[in-house]
Amino acid sequence: MAAAGAPTIAPGEAVALVLGAGGARGLAQIGVIEALQARGMRIVAIAGSSSGALVGGACAAGSPRARARASAWRRLPAWPSVSTQRAPGAVFCCRNDINSFRDEFTTTQVQHSTLVPCLASGCGSVPPLADIHRGPIMPHPLNDAALDQLFRTARTYNAFTGEVSDETLHRLYDLLKFGPTQANTTPARFVFVKSAQAKAKLGPTLDPGNYQKTMDAPVTVIVARDLDFHDKLPYLFPHTDAKAWFEGPRENREKPALRSMALQAAYLIVAARALGLDAGPMTGFDNAKVDEAFFAGTHIKSDILVNLGQGDPASIFPRSPRLSFDEAARIA
Ligand SMILES: Cc1cc2nc3c(=O)[nH]c(=O)nc-3n(C[C@H](O)[C@H](O)[C@H](O)COP(=O)(O)O)c2cc1C
Repeated sequence: MAAAGAPTIAPGEAVALVLGAGGARGLAQIGVIEALQARGMRIVAIAGSSSGALVGGACAAGSPRARARASAWRRLPAWPSVSTQRAPGAVFCCRNDINSFRDEFTTTQVQHSTLVPCLASGCGSVPPLADIHRGPIMPHPLNDAALDQLFRTARTYNAFTGEVSDETLHRLYDLLKFGPTQANTTPARFVFVKSAQAKAKLGPTLDPGNYQKTMDAPVTVIVARDLDFHDKLPYLFPHTDAKAWFEGPRENREKPALRSMALQAAYLIVAARALGLDAGPMTGFDNAKVDEAFFAGTHIKSDILVNLGQGDPASIFPRSPRLSFDEAARIA
């Protein structure tokens, strides 16, 4: 139960936990975390001092949500020798002043979450939840581990294992949908091909080199563009008559549809990586056959396939070079 007068936290609301120190009392916070999770609270970050750091590390390591959190746990044995260990969603600190964690959170990427100073008062008890700080905590660049996961060590995989739940696919869409598109047109349409029947329909459309990895992948996403995307603009862009901008022959909508669909495909890949999935985009397939198999009778056209799952590191090619800043960009 929350302490009298403490604000309540809605189920599903993002919560950042700060775990106190104190030997057995610190360990008692295991029960606290279980109680919070049983109430449907989404713990997005954990900080802890001393034994609270150990409990927080164990909790973060046990979370299926972010592999990077587990790496924080692996680094934890070194914690007494350093003042702070940071990883996406986790901060471990050996200072005893729990109030200092407020400052820690403002310098990590915990944003738009609720910071809950949380001190357990007994084994398995629910802590007094007090002094809740609501609203966005200061935005800050993602740390190196997060940037690696999204970009630098993320790769295009050619073999996939594992399972991807329907819940994860919903979470994936609920992230990627926020990526910006022209006039909020959001022309991309997605088919998450998971079942054996759907995979069997997709198989004959694939280039030989893309066949086996696509058949084996837990999910293959067909990313397509809806050429009649403008029909939804009275809802999607209500402050003006944006639908009128795109009226006329369907071929005139090809370019805006393709442009924003491609952006949404990129948001899909980055969102998948953010959720701990690996991705393998492909255009080596017969678009007309995919359209016939999955979008017959519509004006939705397939563009890109993206395999999702746990990538097999043995399946990647050596990293190809990228253009330098000077080759690809200039500051005008
Ligand atoms: C739009 C697009 C189409 C692609 N098509 C294929 C494909 O048909 N088959 C394939 O094996 N890889 C395909 N790739 C993978 C690229 O070759 C790969 O992403 C690129 O070489 C970068 O690899 P890296 O992420 O491992 O650095 C495609 C990638 C993109 C973005």
